[in-house]
Amino acid sequence: MEKVTRIVWEVLQIEVADLEANLLNLGANSLDMVRIGNQLEKEFKSRPRIDELFRLQSVQALVDYYDRSQEPSSSDSPTNDDALLGNHSLLSSYTVILDPLEREKFKKSRPGVRRDLGEASSIVLTQPLLTEELRQKYLARSSYRKFSLKPIPFEKFSLFLSDLSQIEIEGQSKFLYGSPGGLNPTQVYLHVKPGRIADVPVGTYYYHPETHQLVLLTSNVDIDRNIHIPFINTPMFDECAFSIFFVADLDAVGPSYGERGIHFVTLEAGIMAHQLELSGPQYDIGLCQVGSITFDGIRPWFKLKDTHILIHSTLGGYIDPSRSSKPDVANTSGQSLEKMATELLQRIESLSPDDTQALLDAYRAKEQP
Ligand SMILES: Cc1cc2nc3c(=O)[nH]c(=O)nc-3n(C[C@H](O)[C@H](O)[C@H](O)COP(=O)(O)O)c2cc1C
Repeated sequence: MEKVTRIVWEVLQIEVADLEANLLNLGANSLDMVRIGNQLEKEFKSRPRIDELFRLQSVQALVDYYDRSQEPSSSDSPTNDDALLGNHSLLSSYTVILDPLEREKFKKSRPGVRRDLGEASSIVLTQPLLTEELRQKYLARSSYRKFSLKPIPFEKFSLFLSDLSQIEIEGQSKFLYGSPGGLNPTQVYLHVKPGRIADVPVGTYYYHPETHQLVLLTSNVDIDRNIHIPFINTPMFDECAFSIFFVADLDAVGPSYGERGIHFVTLEAGIMAHQLELSGPQYDIGLCQVGSITFDGIRPWFKLKDTHILIHSTLGGYIDPSRSSKPDVANTSGQSLEKMATELLQRIESLSPDDTQALLDAYRAKEQP
């Protein structure tokens, strides 16, 4: 108690008689609170996280914090991080449904919607009119799992990626998506297959958001389809033109947010994927987010540090405007191999002789050392 009081007095240069008094009301600003945190850390060898510190607004609250932190089996309400850790163990306790039919049944039951609130009073909101415009808005944001084998025109691909670029507006850098603390710790990496994006050779790239450039990392490498979940995602990978990997650099988020950083970069990667998914179709580019891949085998191609972690990924390709670009309603896992092969053959047959030649040339060029 005395140590905490002394630190607060020293930093604020006032004697705080009332231990419950709100320090902010006594004139403390965020910098003062940070200084208090620094001094407390020197004294007690530990400190509250910055968001916790800002909530500990009285000497008493700070004292209580250190009292609590000395009791390992404290029964106080859990912090957000404790809750997250608790959720991890809860999640790992579920038996994952493997049978595709059972999975479908589970999905159809719409388990994410609450059905236990029938007795509660509710306010009926105005329904939007189901106009053609609204239908199109819903359809525009869709997952695409089948792609044309024609090369994506360079300009279309460039404009598609520009949705992740940073621009300057009145001296301020601006992105089309929100980012924790404006740090943009989630980076974008790509793998491009041979001949599938005009003027972009096969290889891995880092997308530079400031210069809107693809920085070549490793040329002439092909991704093994087995990094994807068999049956569910491998057919889609076979057809895609490129893969996008959202990789967070923990060095770019940890110093501001500590453990919560992982939660924040996960959200950021999701928002970035959504942004691309929304804008892709206007450039005839479709995407499908892919939650699980085995990244370790291909990791060296991206020249990453130990602090880089893969958060999320998407597969993408050309949705040929000349054929129906209707999005697929479900993934291909339920389709027979025969149907998939027939469809793929149709797509190969739809290529012009020039497109076929270009694709073959790109593969041959890749095979030559
Ligand atoms: C985090 C996340 C992971 C996903 N992983 C996969 C996946 O591995 N394979 C797949 O086919 N679709 C995947 N999807 C796409 C969903 O299946 C799809 O969004 C959902 O079925 C709704 O369909 P729609 O996007 O066409 O509206 C993923 C979506 C999200 C947000």
